[in-house]
Amino acid sequence: MSLTEERRATGDPGESAQQPLLSLRGIRKNFGAVQALRGVDLDIMPGKIAALVGDNGAGKSTLIKTIAGIWSPSAGELLWEGRPVTIRSPREADNLGIATVYQDLALCDNLDIVQNMFLGHEVLSRRLLDETKMEKKAKETLSDLAVTTVSSVRQLVGSLSGGQRQSVAVARAVMREARLVIMDEPTAALGVSQTAQVLDLIRRLGDRGIAVLLISHNLTDVFSVADSLAVLYLGKLVSSGSISDYDTQKAVEIITTGASGGPASQGRERTLPAD
Ligand SMILES: Nc1ncnc2c1ncn2[C@@H]1O[C@H](COP(=O)(O)OP(=O)(O)OP(=O)(O)O)[C@@H](O)[C@H]1O
Ligand SMILES: [Mg+2]
Repeated sequence: MSLTEERRATGDPGESAQQPLLSLRGIRKNFGAVQALRGVDLDIMPGKIAALVGDNGAGKSTLIKTIAGIWSPSAGELLWEGRPVTIRSPREADNLGIATVYQDLALCDNLDIVQNMFLGHEVLSRRLLDETKMEKKAKETLSDLAVTTVSSVRQLVGSLSGGQRQSVAVARAVMREARLVIMDEPTAALGVSQTAQVLDLIRRLGDRGIAVLLISHNLTDVFSVADSLAVLYLGKLVSSGSISDYDTQKAVEIITTGASGGPASQGRERTLPAD
């Protein structure tokens, strides 16, 4: 039984429809005197695209690094499908089904698409690399995700465009059977058509039941794909709710002032610690 089949077999679809895939409870992260995260509560639902926004230095990257196993939180709790978990390393995040896609990191320019997609998890047959099997699986995954712009899976990743690199990184996560894909500024360096391609890919992850945590400064992107919005301001989550509760103007106001006055944020603000 494959990992996905096993997860599907053991998972309860009825329950997981309501239960968050990942919950953050009171997450704090201090770097010496700097309080980068000051008690963040956030629920990430399966198959939904959650956008995390905030000004420079708000704590977005720190937050995803605590989920991805790079930092341990100074305080607070992570719940994976309701169970408390400690994620001590990227390997432990990977084992849970959490994949982080960084735009420039994570891929090796001097390796081709297949080699990148299987890096560290190569398929062996009689102690030799099973190139045929890996190539077939890589092609299938890309085609399942409707990634049609790469001409050959044997192309070196160094020769790909930014959007194609993103697609390979996402396909790698899908192939590893990720259940939560975290993307930090996936479209920051991309042109118009490559951005559209990556946003399409994000939507397809949602369609496949994979949760996405999208960090972006681009509110047009956020409003075009996200199901929910969460705003960090100086390490606090000052507003969160369905994307339909916001418009661009309101989102900009909360991002820049930390206050919204809107119904989506008020309950949250009252529950935040005072510091
Ligand atoms: N390794 C570190 N050591 C010390 N302080 C850090 C470290 N990483 C982040 N910080 C501080 O934590 C705060 C949040 O930084 P973070 O990188 O999470 O912000 P961000 O929301 O991702 O910003 P940006 O939009 O610019 O990427 C900042 O004040 C930053 O200086
Ligand atoms: Mg950042």
